[in-house]
Amino acid sequence: MCGRGRRVPLPRIVGRRSDTSVWAPGRVNLIGEFTDYSGGLVLPAALDLGIRIDCAASNRTVLTSEAFPGPSDEAGGWGRYVSAVEAELGALGREPVGIAGHVSSNLPVGAGLSSSAALEVAVATGLCAVADFRLEPLELALACQRAELRAVGVPCGIMDQAASVLGREGCALLLDTGSLAYEQVALPPELALVLIDSGVSRRLEGSAYAERRRELEQGLAALDGRNPRELTAADVERLAGAPGRRVRHVVSENRRVAEVASILGEPGRPRLAELGELFAEGHESLRRDFEVTTAELDLLVSLALEAGAVAARMTGGGFGGSIVALAEREGAEALAGRVVAEYRHRGHAGGGAYVCRASDGAHEVR
Ligand code: GLA
Repeated sequence: MCGRGRRVPLPRIVGRRSDTSVWAPGRVNLIGEFTDYSGGLVLPAALDLGIRIDCAASNRTVLTSEAFPGPSDEAGGWGRYVSAVEAELGALGREPVGIAGHVSSNLPVGAGLSSSAALEVAVATGLCAVADFRLEPLELALACQRAELRAVGVPCGIMDQAASVLGREGCALLLDTGSLAYEQVALPPELALVLIDSGVSRRLEGSAYAERRRELEQGLAALDGRNPRELTAADVERLAGAPGRRVRHVVSENRRVAEVASILGEPGRPRLAELGELFAEGHESLRRDFEVTTAELDLLVSLALEAGAVAARMTGGGFGGSIVALAEREGAEALAGRVVAEYRHRGHAGGGAYVCRASDGAHEVR
């Protein structure tokens, strides 16, 4: 694994850029769900869908957008993410130069593809650019993770912001959220990432996300605060009720991430049947043990597999949002179309589908 990025000793302001355009991608998580706040493994990829900000340095930050509902300065609106990022960067010593400009997006909001993390990372990238303020990529991701908590009180892990910052074209990011060591895992070019939105809009704010985290931590505390990656099946058996189920999910999920990453890293054609089984186990564990899937997500997973997907599971924070399917690139569009048609035929609204490629992380658009 590559080591964690070098810490920059002290952020330094060396000048000021008058205007810039920045891009930050959304993410899909291939596997490793709810493992990122207990030092576990995750395997997300940055998408070719994301958020762009065209902006100029200004004495205060004013952003407009049609992508997010309401004006940015409305109480309870998306402007909370913007001010929270500004505050977090200020705490790291960034000079208070604002950005005035426009936010555009081709990433669906509320579809579980990390539109809030992409917004945070795009804003942070823009604010750093206009103040010529340099942060290591992971420092920027951590500031954005803190901004999420500050803005909407969601105690999320580091996965979404890290994927948006560190993504690399054609690769998934194998991240150890304990040590923050990471490695890029090349994805087989013949496989496409198919994302299908259940149309059940989700926001982590107000979902049982924080409650699941509390239950997991309660379970781990009863096991002397040990890292789930050190736990055996026998340890897990000692726990009863919801905390036991949450820990059981995380212990098995960490193993699945390592197995999926290792299959993807093998030379030659990947063992598709094994990938399919690991995704299926992961989804079942999220349904039965972490209890975050919905009937719509379960249905979309079955429809994708019936339509010929290699592997399918829900992705992201659950309680709605999207599924991810791996499918042979040739035929992926047709597969997505069949799944959406059948989903709608069964009376469900929404169901937008996106055939995506793994892409580079946030950057200034030159
Ligand atoms: C959300 C959070 C992430 C992670 C996932 C579940 O996307 O923002 O930190 O916990 O849910 O894997």
